[in-house]
Amino acid sequence: MVEEQGADIRSQVTPEEKALLTTGADYWSTAEVPGIGLRSIRMSDGPHGLRVQDDDNPDHLGLGRSLPATCFPPAVTLASSWDPKLIRSVGRALGREARHQGVDVVLGPGIEIKRSPLCGRNFEYYSEDPLLTGRLAGAMVNGLQSEGVGACVKHFACNTQETDRLRVSADVDERGLREIYLRAFELTVREGKPWAVMSAYNRVNGVFASENPWLLTDVLRNEWNYDGVVVSDWGAVHDPVAAVAAGLDLRMPGQPSDPRVRDALGEGSLDEAALDRVAERLRLLASRTEDSRTAKPAIDYDAHHRLTRQAAAECAVLLHDASGLLPIDPAQVTSIAVIGELARSPRYQGAGSSAVNATRVVNALDALQARIGGTSSVSFAPGYVLDGNEDATELVGEAVTLAGASDLVVLFLGLPSSYEAEGRDRTTIELPTEQVRLVKAIAAVNRRVVVALSNGSAVTTADWRTEVGSIVEFWLTGQAHGDSITDVLLGEVNPSGKLAETVPVRLEDTSSFLDFPGEAGHVRHNEGVHVGYRWFDARRLEVDYPFGHGLSYTTFGYSDLDIAVHELDDPIAVTVSVTLTNTGSRAGAEVIQVYVGDRSGVLQMPERELRAFSKVHLTPGASEQVELPISRTDLEHFHPDAGWVFAGGQMEVSVGSSSRDIRLHATVEVPGHPVEIPLSVWSRLGDWMTDPVAGPALRALIEERGGVKGRVGDLLSDPVSQDSALAFPLISVTQFPGFPVTAEEVEDLLGR
Ligand code: BGC
Repeated sequence: MVEEQGADIRSQVTPEEKALLTTGADYWSTAEVPGIGLRSIRMSDGPHGLRVQDDDNPDHLGLGRSLPATCFPPAVTLASSWDPKLIRSVGRALGREARHQGVDVVLGPGIEIKRSPLCGRNFEYYSEDPLLTGRLAGAMVNGLQSEGVGACVKHFACNTQETDRLRVSADVDERGLREIYLRAFELTVREGKPWAVMSAYNRVNGVFASENPWLLTDVLRNEWNYDGVVVSDWGAVHDPVAAVAAGLDLRMPGQPSDPRVRDALGEGSLDEAALDRVAERLRLLASRTEDSRTAKPAIDYDAHHRLTRQAAAECAVLLHDASGLLPIDPAQVTSIAVIGELARSPRYQGAGSSAVNATRVVNALDALQARIGGTSSVSFAPGYVLDGNEDATELVGEAVTLAGASDLVVLFLGLPSSYEAEGRDRTTIELPTEQVRLVKAIAAVNRRVVVALSNGSAVTTADWRTEVGSIVEFWLTGQAHGDSITDVLLGEVNPSGKLAETVPVRLEDTSSFLDFPGEAGHVRHNEGVHVGYRWFDARRLEVDYPFGHGLSYTTFGYSDLDIAVHELDDPIAVTVSVTLTNTGSRAGAEVIQVYVGDRSGVLQMPERELRAFSKVHLTPGASEQVELPISRTDLEHFHPDAGWVFAGGQMEVSVGSSSRDIRLHATVEVPGHPVEIPLSVWSRLGDWMTDPVAGPALRALIEERGGVKGRVGDLLSDPVSQDSALAFPLISVTQFPGFPVTAEEVEDLLGR
């Protein structure tokens, strides 16, 4: 369709109009060109609810001025479900609200890889693992777009920190970039087929992402066949001409009075064909989102509130349950102390451009009182203040007295909103000091403590975990906060969330510790592919809770591991089959996780990498045989000299309930394609000698000239030193007297 429209776009749009199309008409909308039937397209933040703003006040902080909308759970929470189906249903609900408001494109999902737990926007992102991110974000894109509303996947790429985000250069080696950071986008693009992608503020290896031809054209369009629109992050374009030439379609917010693109077109320094492509892509976006204009659905906000409640409860991660305090049976507990300011002032979303003006908010204190107040006595003490410097000694004293006089304590802890916001990173992974002081003081008088956590990025519990009975990580729940939490605490929902990011013991243990947030405009990703669990596993580091961890009120047994290895021409490399049994007494869900350790030796490989997962719901005593196919491309690694490779060989397959709770394990031989690194003058002498074509030719030339003499000859004839000579690049060997082939002849051999 895009092709067919090309001809009339070229003839019917004036160069001035074409130039105007490359930027918005205003803060949120694109320009219209009636001549080619192109209407204006309206965008809105995202990602976990709509933030439709009044055009006269289009700023980030105008939360009160954005229209009320359902605040769904943010990505950090949804990711813990490991459940694409659930995420798709949230995406659909969000899409319906967008259509209702006349929004064509929602600016989300955010899919940055969580390089450091300190990133202030981690709550908007899914995981530290690219496969998990891609599968889950792909489901969000599918859900949104099934309603005729475009997703805008952001921020492409490497916007993994807030500090200096508008300038910093993320310096990443190509393997790390491809296998970790870009892979998350690649999977989302391939599986979700988003209609828009947002380019990031930051630079990638020195070049601004929004003006980066390698990222926007070579990789995104040419390699991944992406056919949608690329929108800049708001204010990310510095040179609009370079941006269009690099493959950016739309600079936002709109700067229609900026003459630079029009002038460049007039002077001939910008190819008009680039602008024709912009017009074509915008037309495609307008036609894809046409439904958002024509049919405005009525919204059942109650149903969306219920969906939020269900989703957040299903995403809760039971981190620790040492003394079986959960689920709470109100009939067995006379008095419950609800402690913590967060019980009445909930944190259910993060701050910044994603903040939603929720249609309603339920706090946990009200929910608990309403649901168990008739059976048990429920008393409250705040214990600490959020975002304040007041001395909390009195509050702690009051809370400790209440805790000492109660059967059970439900303690609400978490991060105040000032800790996690767009535009700033954290500096610690600890809870605020006064909260740690409080939990210890309470545990000293009552060990029956259930901790409910509310935070948008990882907080360590290492220092106090063993002093309490249970810990549930609720992350940021969205607007049904109190009801979602109560559903889990009372066992109406059996928690089945799994961590999509490692919770470290100490910040010093994290892979980015020495390079976050960088210095002098650069942040070096020295850890390469070893991000998240890949790092903790390689270094054999103790963690607070491993990637993939999450307990349940029931238990699961794993058995009958079987691995079918497929033929080389099959796009599926292996199919892992396993039987899962609910061995406890409650219905529940488990996420079967398959990790593969590539032992081919082709590159330095992580210990294990997530390659497949499946969420399975089982009633007590029930079993299910589950098959998890793993495609050949999902097993590939990026070789700096040979591109994507899967050499095959030994693969260690581990199936488990978390990355460190492996229940079944097997080693299999999988066929692959040998890695072919093209010979160059810089290839080693040994590689030349063993090359099936160049080897015999080089050898013949050497023999014809009487063999290798001098120092290289001596080294080659000594069994101990031979390896050092074979490791020299051939071009260097030619510099030694006695080696009978010249640098020119090597070039010549290569040509042949
Ligand atoms: C944020 C984007 C957001 C945009 C529009 C930017 O500052 O980085 O995520 O979509 O503003 O509000």
